[in-house]
Amino acid sequence: MALVGVCGGTGVPYSRTVGVMIWTVTNLKPGTAKTTSAVWLAHAVHEAGRRTLLIDADPGGAHSKYGAEAFDGLGSAGRWDDRARFPFDLISNPSRDLHKILPRVAADYEVTVIDSPPIEDHQGIAVSALRVADVAVIPVAPTTAEVDRMAPVLAVLADIEPLRAGPLTVCVLLNRTVANASSTGDAAGELTKRGHRVLPTRIPRLELYAQSHGAPVVAEDTAYAAAAAEILALADASGATR
Ligand SMILES: Nc1ncnc2c1ncn2[C@@H]1O[C@H](COP(=O)(O)OP(=O)(O)O)[C@@H](O)[C@H]1O
Ligand SMILES: [Mg+2]
Repeated sequence: MALVGVCGGTGVPYSRTVGVMIWTVTNLKPGTAKTTSAVWLAHAVHEAGRRTLLIDADPGGAHSKYGAEAFDGLGSAGRWDDRARFPFDLISNPSRDLHKILPRVAADYEVTVIDSPPIEDHQGIAVSALRVADVAVIPVAPTTAEVDRMAPVLAVLADIEPLRAGPLTVCVLLNRTVANASSTGDAAGELTKRGHRVLPTRIPRLELYAQSHGAPVVAEDTAYAAAAAEILALADASGATR
């Protein structure tokens, strides 16, 4: 693959490999399905045949084995004890320097998925991820509270814009939806009206996802596989894939 030179907004030059992309799964608050979405999307892109890396960047995550691990190799303990169940590489690094480190690390992968900490708890890490990402995936439940919290997320996105080398592709992944409830359509309509790009696929509220921490994940034929395909297509269409 050809190398293209990109200069980060920090003035830190780095090179990106064509076909490499970084997604950050982010939101303001804890409990908004960031980790669940990051894990399932990573499985989905892996199953789609893409060389995949998952970054645990949340020091406060419920399953965190947070320690002094750094990007010094993939042998360091990951966030989830049973790393063997991950059929792709997993690195734990809740760092404010992701924007400096990741261009080099992610160059070995086609898709790197970052499980971001909540912006309000660890803004430095979440912002670092947003600076380096090509795509921000924002899981949102169809509730008024979560829909309204998009405003502060957008404010953060606007703040980091000057720090980025190029535009960020942002999409909302409607999540924890209830079958046949009007709330999903209402939330999608409201978010679209406010100018957000809402992925057509919705992730239902299911025990399959609620119970997935620590269990083997197969994303094939689930909504996450469809969502991952939509994000890949979106990234390709917007030129996020370099
Ligand atoms: N689609 C879903 N259906 C049912 N439960 C879900 C779904 N997505 C997430 N959850 C549950 O919601 C809780 C919060 O999800 P999590 O991914 O840990 O959020 P975050 O990483 O944003 O803090 C967890 O208990 C998780 O199992
Ligand atoms: Mg989490």
